[in-house]
Order: sequence, then structure tokens, then C-alpha cells
Amino acid sequence: MRTFLCGFLWLTRAVLIGSLQLKSNLFLSPLAGYTNLPFRLVVREIGGLDLATTDLVNARSLLERNPKALKLIETCPVDRPLAVQLFGSVPEEMRDAAAYLQSIGVASVDINMGCPVRKVCRVGGGSAMMTELDKTAKLVRGMVEAVKIPVTAKMRLGWDDQNLTAPDLARVLEDAGVAAIFVHGRTREQGFGGAVNLAGIAAVVRAVRAIPVIGNGDITTPQAAKMMFDETGCAGVSIGRGALYHPWIFRDTGHFLRTGQMPPEPDFEERVGVVRRHLDLMVGVFGEEHGCRLFRKIGPWHSKRLGPANEFNRRIVKLSSMADFNSILDDYRRWRRQFLDDDGRLMPRYLPAPMEASFMHEPAVAQRTAIPVPKGPVEVW
Ligand SMILES: Cc1cc2nc3c(=O)[nH]c(=O)nc-3n(C[C@H](O)[C@H](O)[C@H](O)COP(=O)(O)O)c2cc1C
Repeated sequence: MRTFLCGFLWLTRAVLIGSLQLKSNLFLSPLAGYTNLPFRLVVREIGGLDLATTDLVNARSLLERNPKALKLIETCPVDRPLAVQLFGSVPEEMRDAAAYLQSIGVASVDINMGCPVRKVCRVGGGSAMMTELDKTAKLVRGMVEAVKIPVTAKMRLGWDDQNLTAPDLARVLEDAGVAAIFVHGRTREQGFGGAVNLAGIAAVVRAVRAIPVIGNGDITTPQAAKMMFDETGCAGVSIGRGALYHPWIFRDTGHFLRTGQMPPEPDFEERVGVVRRHLDLMVGVFGEEHGCRLFRKIGPWHSKRLGPANEFNRRIVKLSSMADFNSILDDYRRWRRQFLDDDGRLMPRYLPAPMEASFMHEPAVAQRTAIPVPKGPVEVW
């Protein structure tokens, strides 16, 4: 295996996606409802990330300049390079939306490939599957020919274990001009349960000729990122929920891959500083009332690494203003003292359990340590 020959360093190499030269091979996965401008800025300020992707955006809504769709692609000069993920099945709409995104300076367009395989399976696969692949390839070709920026695709391994179609789809998409494949190592049937299948990702890596394949799923630690690189030969890894838990994950993973050393955990004050920064940015982008309302589902992700946080969570899910946040934090600090030692550190028995990725464990353990999935349209993710 390449890693054993060359140490860790090859893992930190830059990635070329079409004409886009990236400084990092670590990517932020789209998380609808979370990967908006404030969160992307939080992660970028901490470091280690280059290409970030927006939440999925409906191509037609974008063409109609629907205000909600425009809000989803809101960006600013430091939020670069940025990929926008499009969702849609009408070739002309996908093509025109890609051209529009290029015209406003977006670095690349990602296509959500959540749906095609499902329809194929419903009609029995076989030749029907090839027809569907042809249709998908045509849609993609239309987009690729309409823009100079790279067009990428994000998919799962297939419908179920009997239909691991991602390698075939990836090959067809490469022929159609796609510049990179992002693959979540689970099937549609799995949803978010069970372990990520590294061998399945490796099969996609082997299926393409030259384009980078970016592995995804359950990476919550630098060690898990390294294992995904090692076991799949992927050119990069993409991290979603692991970044909600720990926005330092890109910086830490880059450091670990370069040096083999784990950087120190951020302390309580550093974590709280990031929570506050995230809320400030949410308020800046969405206004105080809406920003605070949206933050109600974000706060509990941040608090997962703070140790006991019931008191924080109970109130953050009702957050309504910045003043409210300050009082929640003051009260939480006071409540949290009972778990601290004389030096003000969390007593060992209250430390959060270490994060561990599903694919680093036996299935039973993987199930127990599964990352939560917020409510939402799981079938399109
Ligand atoms: C709340 C949530 C929203 C998601 N939204 C999207 C999305 O908009 N587009 C997409 O392709 N995948 C979406 N996904 C899937 C993630 O991008 C990613 O493939 C999946 O969560 C596995 O990676 P992770 O374990 O690092 O989170 C979403 C997942 C979650 C949990």
C-alpha cells in the first residue's frame, strides 16, 4: 500500500478537480440546513479546508431567483473556493443553473445524484438501469459543455448491497466529463445506519480512469480520515457531521496527516469562542431573530464535546436573542462548575467519550456509536 512506502505525507497532497487546483484534499460535505455561509466561515477561520459545498439547491428555484435559493448560495470573498450543489432532473434547468453559477463566480458545481438508482431499481434494473445511466450521462454532458468550471457528482454506493452501481455510474460520469466523484460509502437502503463500506469506495476509485474520487461517511477523527485514505486509495475525503461535532477536524486532520501527531483538543473557552462566533455570523447573515431560531438546532451539536451540557441544551433550543445567549452561557458556566476539578478542568468521568468512526469497529459497536442524523429528507442525501 502506498502509505507504507511513503509515510503520511502523500495523503496531504493537493487535488486537482478539473481546472481547479485545491490546497487541501479535505472537503466539507453538503449538510442541508447547516452548511450555510456562517458555518463555512467558522470552519475556514479554524483552517484546513479549501473547497466547501453549499446545501443542495433546486436548479429551477435558482433560475427563478427564488429568494430562499439565493440565500442558500450566499457567499463572500473569504468563502472561496465554493462549490454549489444542484438538485434537479430537467437537463436544460441543470445546464442553465450551472451557467448562472459560473457567471457569479462559483468555483465548481456539484450534482446531487441521490435519485437515479432508485427509479432504476423500481423498474427492475438491467437494461432499464442502462437507460437511466444514459439519461443521467446526457444531463451531465449538457452541463459540462455549458461551463468551464468543473462539474462534480455526489452519490451513494448504490441502492442496496445487491445493487452497488456506483462504480458503473462513476465510469459513465467520467466519460460524460465529470471532474470528480464524491461517494458516501453507504447504500440508499442503509440510510445512515450500519458501517461505511470502505471496500465499496475503493471499487469506485478503481472504476474511474483519471478523475479524483473523494470518500465520505462517518469521518469524525483524523485517524478515521487516514484509514479511509489507506483502505480506499481515494484522492480526498469529505466530512459532514464530523465537522458539526468538531469544526477543528480539517485543521487537525491536515496536521495529523502531515506529522502523524494529534494536535491538542481545544479547551472549553476555545470551544465556547467558536460557538459564539458561529452565532454572531448566523445573526449577521440571517438577522437576530431568524439567526437565533436557526441556531437552536446547531447549539446542541457544538455542545456534544463540552461534557455535561443538559442545562445548555435545554435552553439553547429555545434561543431567541443574543442577550438570551449571554445569559444561557453565564448560567451554563455556573452549572458546569460541579463537574470541574480544583484546576477548573472537567473531571475525567465527565469527559465526552472519544469519537470513533463506524468503519473502525465491529458492526455492533458501530451501531451503538452511530452519529445522530437530524430530521430531514434522508432519501435525497
Ligand atoms: C442533516 C444532513 C443534511 C444533508 N444534506 C445533504 C445535501 O444537501 N446534499 C448531499 O449530497 N448530501 C447531504 N447529506 C449527506 C452528507 O453530505 C454526507 O454524505 C453524509 O452525512 C455522510 O457523511 P458524514 O458522516 O461525514 O456526515 C446530508 C446529511 C445530513 C446528516
